[in-house]
Amino acid sequence: MAAVFLLLLLAFASPAAARYTANWTSLDARPLPSWYDEAKVGIFVHWGVFSVPGFESEWFWWHWQGQQPPDPKCVSYMSENYPPGFSYPDFAPQFHAQFFNPEEWADIFKASGAKYVVLTSKHHEGFTNWGSPYSWNWNSVDNGPKRDLVEDLGDAVRNRSLHYGLYNSLYEWFNPLYLEDKKNGFKTQQFVMRKLLPELYNIVVKYRPEVIWSDGDWEAPDTYWNSTQFLAWLYNDSPVKDTVVTNDRWGQGTACKHGGFYNCQDKYTPGQLPKHKWEKCTSVDTLSWGYRRNMKLKELMDLPAIIDDLVSTVALGGNYLLNVGPTADGTVPSVFEERLRGVGAWLETNGEAIYATKPWRVQMENGTVPVWYTSKGATVYAIITAKPPTTTLKLLIPQTSATTKVTLLGRPSSLPWAPVYPNAGLTVLLPELPFTPGQAWTLKLDHVQ
Ligand SMILES: *[C@@H]1O[C@H](CO)[C@@H](O)[C@H](O)[C@H]1NC(C)=O
Ligand SMILES: *[C@@H]1O[C@H](CO)[C@@H](O)[C@H](O)[C@H]1NC(C)=O
Ligand SMILES: *[C@@H]1O[C@H](CO)[C@@H](O)[C@H](O)[C@H]1NC(C)=O
Ligand SMILES: *[C@@H]1O[C@H](CO)[C@@H](O)[C@H](O)[C@H]1NC(C)=O
Repeated sequence: MAAVFLLLLLAFASPAAARYTANWTSLDARPLPSWYDEAKVGIFVHWGVFSVPGFESEWFWWHWQGQQPPDPKCVSYMSENYPPGFSYPDFAPQFHAQFFNPEEWADIFKASGAKYVVLTSKHHEGFTNWGSPYSWNWNSVDNGPKRDLVEDLGDAVRNRSLHYGLYNSLYEWFNPLYLEDKKNGFKTQQFVMRKLLPELYNIVVKYRPEVIWSDGDWEAPDTYWNSTQFLAWLYNDSPVKDTVVTNDRWGQGTACKHGGFYNCQDKYTPGQLPKHKWEKCTSVDTLSWGYRRNMKLKELMDLPAIIDDLVSTVALGGNYLLNVGPTADGTVPSVFEERLRGVGAWLETNGEAIYATKPWRVQMENGTVPVWYTSKGATVYAIITAKPPTTTLKLLIPQTSATTKVTLLGRPSSLPWAPVYPNAGLTVLLPELPFTPGQAWTLKLDHVQ
């Protein structure tokens, strides 16, 4: 009797025995695997049949034939350029991906300094970028590229020691099973049982993604999607149970409230330090996540804007997931490549102030230029995202001591400084700031509080 009791006690005391239950209280208590917070920077890739029309956005099909009234721009684009009766699925055979070289893509993503890559395995259109047995002729192996895009990119990304994640849309605009469930007020789960869940289990077992980036959840409650049951399996028994992270889009009202890290809304920018780990997803093309053939340079984020956004996100405890939309031919447009390599060049020098950092006690101060703070152990990083107008920079927040040391990342010697008040604030004499296309520089402060 006593021995049995002891065994039971051991079983419950050992962390290996911790199992999650299919409810939010239990799932939300799971610690986030540490790689994710340390990584800070990821690349988001929106690629699918929507890349073929490459017009307006990845929501093209919905804007053309779903929403009421339809978007007149999409309607006239189709009537002016395609024969009558041309349907959205007719775009799929033109998703050739003939220039898709996953090694080249992975080289670019690696060069960006990102530590993870998230690919759309299936967007709201329902086309799967792998040979899903549950998506007859509406998948990239039987149609279009004739290739397992999820696997090919995953192999190349992992070969460069980057983490690999998959975006998956829960709903599908025009799936007849989904529309039937919706008509039934989501009291039936035909779509969930016959399409969604089989595919989710399929991609996890087959490709072992370390991020499940869920989306398209908002029309129905999490109970319709069986989200908590899926997550309990993912965290307890899946092949990625120890390393996988998930976001917060698992049903109406779950965003910013349940799941792993929080995305809240697209391009979410909190005003102050959130209590929970979060991620900002945003896109180099400010008007679309998917490729647009008529995008203009002025509609894209330039490198300083990207660096500024990345720095403030990390200072506020977030990860930064930056999106690019490849073409249907399988190329990463050169202008996106240029932006990503620019981010990588900046991180080459300043990454010490980004990767594996923690938010500091204060996130920013407005001096003559904005200053964002991050920290690592006893070191504080002050990142300035504009060139100061004078050769001195005044920081009022750090508390100095006699042993305080200031350096500029990328420059070996330490910089002269003087306290503003006894033990509070410092004025740093800046050297000539080296040119950086990112237009942001980092002061490393040792022995401050
Ligand atoms: C959730 O699961 C936990 C752990 O099994 C259990 O203690 C708790 O009562 C459950 N909560 C709800 C609301 O069902
Ligand atoms: C990447 O691929 C090369 C060549 O196949 C192999 O030698 C190397 O070990 C791989 N690296 C990783 C991290 O998987
Ligand atoms: C879906 O959830 C119900 C309970 O709501 C459960 O009985 C069923 O086993 C779940 N199915 C799957 C495939 O997770
Ligand atoms: C700094 O200035 C910006 C822009 O004027 C403002 O939005 C922000 O609240 C200020 N932050 C602090 C900490 O003063």
